[in-house]
Amino acid sequence: MPVMAMRQGAISKSWKYNHPDMSILSGKHILLGVTGSIAAYKAADLASRLAQAGAKVDVLLTGAAEKFISPLTFQSVTGRRAFTDNDLWGNEAHVLHVSFGKTADLLVIAPCTADTMAKLAHGIADNLLTVTALAATCPILIAPAMDGGMFDHPATQENLNTLLSRGVLVAGPASGHLASGLSGQGRMIEPVELLGHIRVALGKKGKLAGRKIIVTAGGTQETIDPVRVITNHSSGRQGYALAQAALDEGAEVCLITAPTALTPPVGARVVHVKSVQEMLDALLNESADALVMAAAAADFRPKNVAKDKMKKRDGIPQIELEAAPDVLGTLSTVGGEGRRFRVVVGFAAESQSLLENAAEKLKSKKLDFIAANDISAKDAGFGVETNRITLLFADGAKEILPLMSKTDAAEKIMEHIARLLE
Ligand code: CTP
Repeated sequence: MPVMAMRQGAISKSWKYNHPDMSILSGKHILLGVTGSIAAYKAADLASRLAQAGAKVDVLLTGAAEKFISPLTFQSVTGRRAFTDNDLWGNEAHVLHVSFGKTADLLVIAPCTADTMAKLAHGIADNLLTVTALAATCPILIAPAMDGGMFDHPATQENLNTLLSRGVLVAGPASGHLASGLSGQGRMIEPVELLGHIRVALGKKGKLAGRKIIVTAGGTQETIDPVRVITNHSSGRQGYALAQAALDEGAEVCLITAPTALTPPVGARVVHVKSVQEMLDALLNESADALVMAAAAADFRPKNVAKDKMKKRDGIPQIELEAAPDVLGTLSTVGGEGRRFRVVVGFAAESQSLLENAAEKLKSKKLDFIAANDISAKDAGFGVETNRITLLFADGAKEILPLMSKTDAAEKIMEHIARLLE
């Protein structure tokens, strides 16, 4: 169930922010409700990131939140007035709580205490935030934060289930160190991860809503012996950007990834693979509206895998290679009416005769379109943030894209997939 799927367990300490380009947030009106938890300091970071991504952020603090953090903190990072319970009794009060919840794209309550969860579940409206939540017609996303015992309490669990059953989106809480000194499930998830949940919530009405998209990413690894592999320079950035772009457009996303240093986007179902064979096997278990094969899959692999580590003392090994399976080639033969993917997109990584080679692959792999990528250019291809690609379509059309970020290239590709699926 998608709502449940958004709930996260423990989050990794090594969480890194990998998706700096967040056009989905640009121009969006986000209401950020802050309640009385020590995690309120994380809300300031979240507000700052949202504002930097171009969102219009209106912050509403409860009285308890003001004990932990000042409205001025939020005003300083959002560039907009922050609202408190004083505003509930002012002249604008009625307009505020009704118009906020009607015009906003999303109401995020982070941190959301057990007390505020209880109020939301029971329709109690005794402060500006809960009045606004009760009047809101926009989606609501909460990030619970409380002590582990409070979260586990049957009353809180019942409130949580009530909110979930009403379609409230819930992100977290994570497990780990709690302000009480104990550890357990109750920590508010980190702002960067919460941003991912906000993107998923905002994408729900996108062009790919209701579609399933599979993206493959990264450079496969072909085992030589227990410590060595044959791999390539792919960072996985383009594939991960494609998965994020599909999520931003509301798709259900499965990311089949070879090992990379990247953190998968929030909301994607992730299948980790190493070799081309594992990638092919994973794909043969799936079907989807579209497949984007962005992985740099190996063409050759060792014919025999050494059981034990090859030792220097035994001299320089001669490694015999054999052809690895061609994933797209194989999938194109599992075809006809039973084709598993309605739209199939490939990439052509070329260092010479770019368009001729790409056109040949478009045809031989029976693709709907191919992104031809000149890997000899310093600003495009492996390991860099930008790409310079030309799209070739099965109907003979061609679109030359200028140098752009991999995020922008991913959005362009998703636009074409949405068009082809219409
Ligand atoms: N591909 C694949 N299976 C492989 C190798 C590549 O499905 N074993 C896919 C890639 O993911 C990409 C497309 O085929 O979408 C083209 O990959 P590319 O490496 O450019 O071409 P190859 O088919 O491998 O041919 P060559 O290496 O000879 O250029």
